[in-house]
Amino acid sequence: MLRLTVLVSGGGTNLQAILDAIDSGRIRDAQVCTVISNNPGAYALERAKSRNIPAVCVSPRSFPSRKAFEDAYLAAVRESGPDLIVLAGCMVVLPEQMVRLYENRIINIHPALIPSFCGTGYHGLHVHEEALKRGVRVTGATVHFVDSGTDTGPIILQKAVCVQEGDTPEILQRRVMEQAEWLILPEAIDLIAAGRVHVEGRKVHIDDYSFG
Ligand code: GRF
Repeated sequence: MLRLTVLVSGGGTNLQAILDAIDSGRIRDAQVCTVISNNPGAYALERAKSRNIPAVCVSPRSFPSRKAFEDAYLAAVRESGPDLIVLAGCMVVLPEQMVRLYENRIINIHPALIPSFCGTGYHGLHVHEEALKRGVRVTGATVHFVDSGTDTGPIILQKAVCVQEGDTPEILQRRVMEQAEWLILPEAIDLIAAGRVHVEGRKVHIDDYSFG
């Protein structure tokens, strides 16, 4: 049984997608053991509490320095004893020590088709604003391993979503969540839990998987 620690910052719809996928059997052999938020007001914490999942808040505002926060954040993650750490709407720039300690054991969901619309400053609604500004016909979401860069780790799964006439950033964000994020993040967790995902350099191989 793969022990998951889910790191959140906001509404927690990706956490909810994971919990629903576990209930429905789309995620086998994994369980959410702890949810950790840097934001005390994150509704994701409520989603965890309603399922009696330990919900921890480590807020930067509670610490005298960035270093003190990062030390406490990493300590909370280590204490949760994760096999896999899942960034689900997590806005924290992870401590370098954490990325090193959990190499290829941290995954992130990004609301665009990396390498498009990613990197520093590209998060949440801004990603969709830029996609609409550029006039792309297709966008989507990416699940990738986290490395020392920003959205630069090996790609695990991606799913495309069509942009439609009249889309606002909010409408497009919702479609990308519904048609991509909430599907490929649980699928990636299930594949990892089944031992089918292998990182080979900068690439990821998935056993017996047909893309598309
Ligand atoms: C989502 O667009 C996700 O891709 C991004 O943060 C947004 C909110 O995620 N990382 P959630 O509802 O908190 O899971």
